[in-house]
Amino acid sequence: MPNGKGTQSAFIYLPPGDNHWIDIAVLIASSIPNALISRLGKHFGALYYKNIARREYSCCYAAFDKTGRLAGVILGTLDRNEAKSLDFSLKIRLLLAANVRLFSPAVFRWFACGWRNRSATKRLMRDFPKAELIVVVVHEDFKGNRIGRTLITELESFFRNNKLDFPYLILTEKSNRVANVLYEKIGAQFIKTYPYHDKLMNEWHKPLF
Ligand SMILES: CC(C)(COP(=O)(O)OP(=O)(O)OC[C@H]1O[C@@H](n2cnc3c(N)ncnc32)[C@H](O)[C@@H]1OP(=O)(O)O)[C@@H](O)C(=O)NCCC(=O)NCCS
Repeated sequence: MPNGKGTQSAFIYLPPGDNHWIDIAVLIASSIPNALISRLGKHFGALYYKNIARREYSCCYAAFDKTGRLAGVILGTLDRNEAKSLDFSLKIRLLLAANVRLFSPAVFRWFACGWRNRSATKRLMRDFPKAELIVVVVHEDFKGNRIGRTLITELESFFRNNKLDFPYLILTEKSNRVANVLYEKIGAQFIKTYPYHDKLMNEWHKPLF
């Protein structure tokens, strides 16, 4: 049973342990089914997100209810390029975890669209801030309890403690109405919509007030 910060509320906010990563990958995949990582299976997701979270410049908090059930998670980093880099052995483990899912039509379409738009996408992504809120999700059963906002506050404390003095990046699908409303409400600035593989993404920059 996790315990720690936030025990006065109905939820507890903690860095996840090694035993939580499969649940986290399942939660992210069910909340953001269109993302490539979500299509590559829970073992792929667990390995991928855990690799980002364990980096020195990354931060991950999970929200648990009083029974210890996973209610939400946030993952962010001060350096998105460093956090998402993969060493050789991890690449092999990810390929093995993805297995036959790599050959699905959805994955093929993702790669084909990305290849077609690669130079435009590279140009549009050139000026991205280094720090990023990579993902925030709340389980369907717990939405509307301000867990999303609280997780963002936790991530921002990490950024503040590490002296981040530029806005951080948030990317979300243009069609994701709830997330776009949330980012506008927390004071993020909308920058642009751009094509990314088979989707249209919104770029937001969020200053630390
Ligand atoms: C986006 C998400 C994380 C919000 O989590 P949440 O805990 O339900 O959100 P909160 O209770 O903290 O609400 C924060 C704000 O989000 C907005 N919001 C939340 N649910 C909403 C809904 N159903 N319709 C419209 N706006 C909504 C509100 O503006 C709310 O502000 P308010 O508290 O002033 O009303 C959650 O809906 C989710 O997991 N969505 C799927 C995953 C996703 O899209 N993640 C973002 C991309 S990485």
